[in-house]
Amino acid sequence: MNHRQIEDQFSVGVYQKRDLVIVRGEGARVWDEAGREYVDCVAGIGVANVGHCHPAVVAAIQSQAARLITCNEIFYNDARARVLERLDRITPEGINRFFLCNSGTEAVEGAIKFARMATGRKHVVAAMRGYHGKTLGSLSATWERKYKEPFAPLVPEFSHMPYNNAAEFEKAIDDQTAAVILEPIQGEGGVRPATAEFMQAVRRACDEKGALLIIDEIQTGFGRTGRMFACEHFGILPDILTMAKGIAGGVPMGAIGIDRRVGEIEKQSHTSTFGGNPLACAAATAAIDVLVGQDLPRHAAETGAYFVERLRAMASPRVREIRGLGLMIGLELKEKAGPFAQALMQEGVLALLAGTTVLRFLPPLVISREQIDRVVDTLAHVLGAAPRSAAE
Ligand SMILES: Cc1ncc(COP(=O)(O)O)c(C=O)c1O
Repeated sequence: MNHRQIEDQFSVGVYQKRDLVIVRGEGARVWDEAGREYVDCVAGIGVANVGHCHPAVVAAIQSQAARLITCNEIFYNDARARVLERLDRITPEGINRFFLCNSGTEAVEGAIKFARMATGRKHVVAAMRGYHGKTLGSLSATWERKYKEPFAPLVPEFSHMPYNNAAEFEKAIDDQTAAVILEPIQGEGGVRPATAEFMQAVRRACDEKGALLIIDEIQTGFGRTGRMFACEHFGILPDILTMAKGIAGGVPMGAIGIDRRVGEIEKQSHTSTFGGNPLACAAATAAIDVLVGQDLPRHAAETGAYFVERLRAMASPRVREIRGLGLMIGLELKEKAGPFAQALMQEGVLALLAGTTVLRFLPPLVISREQIDRVVDTLAHVLGAAPRSAAE
């Protein structure tokens, strides 16, 4: 059996797989079994922010693996202390204590628990089209019905309001609200940025009613949108920040950051065997040092602007709208996007979907202008549009 057949036979089969076996990556490129190269605008779904197999991340993993791989948080550890210091340095003002975990959905689970514990309230207000993960608590905050219905009943006391509608959120936030949870740009929901007015209005309503604001930066964090965290675009500070994806250069890791106003979290109320393990912590320290040292958020802002400019210059009647910030870009079509993602792959470009009509581009932040040119020219080709440079 080949690799495809083995996976098809022995995995549960919940993933909608593409017919490609990826075996190697470097920077913004990956290679398949036959040695064919692809420009990777999937990046493990927005994970490889510093690029695939960044040498500093590889070296940190190798060296930590030879010293200590596992050490539960019942003990102190040098690698963990180093990453905590860095998270404190790069996260928004006020966020200064962290719970380390292993994935995005786990960060959201913990954030909901901490918010309920800190406020003594139960209700969580989330957004329509929002996505926060698929374990039962996070799934309760997620909007998409088809992910939720088969698993009902979910966690009670969640409601969903229209994104970017300040008045509806203000109405929904009251003295029973433990937290509001929001993505600064809805990723899975179609790459839809929030407005600053909306985020600021929700921040104010939370303050007035004593509710906590959880900003889910699992997809938008670590430089993706042109700032280290996307909430910086909107002039607001979260009470709780959820992180994962780009945090550790590709190694599974998540984190919850909390502001001091969240108060004390009771001992043993939330724990994880693998949380804060030295291997992930060493990888994250290296990845954060690369993000900061090479100023990748600024690079994402500049190359993202170039990417969008080139997309806008592409004259295609199939395109409805181009949205995004930094290197989190969505191209909404007037028809189903799936066949175009497939065609792009055949031409050596990997892109994601966000819903049925949106092509989503989440490349490593180290992607070059030449690689972006290749992506846009290929896209123009598969859309049957005339490729033009941004200047034209
Ligand atoms: C905003 C957001 N929150 C939560 C998650 C869930 O993360 P994970 O897939 O690591 O559980 C995702 C994943 O795409 C996400 O984009």
